[in-house]
Amino acid sequence: MPKAHVDKDTCIGCGLCVGTRPDVFEFDDDGKAEAVNPEVDELEVECPVGAISVED
Ligand code: F3S
Repeated sequence: MPKAHVDKDTCIGCGLCVGTRPDVFEFDDDGKAEAVNPEVDELEVECPVGAISVED
């Protein structure tokens, strides 16, 4: 199953991904998103800074 990944150097903590898919993303202690349940069928989140990638 494809896996979501957050590039924390790129993430600005806008929260769109956490708000849209709280089952997949959470904030870490630095206010950056991380994929806590990265396996996704499909991901409809459009990160405004392109920090999220999905790899097969
Ligand atoms: Fe960060 Fe993008 Fe999510 S900026 S908080 S990875 S939508």
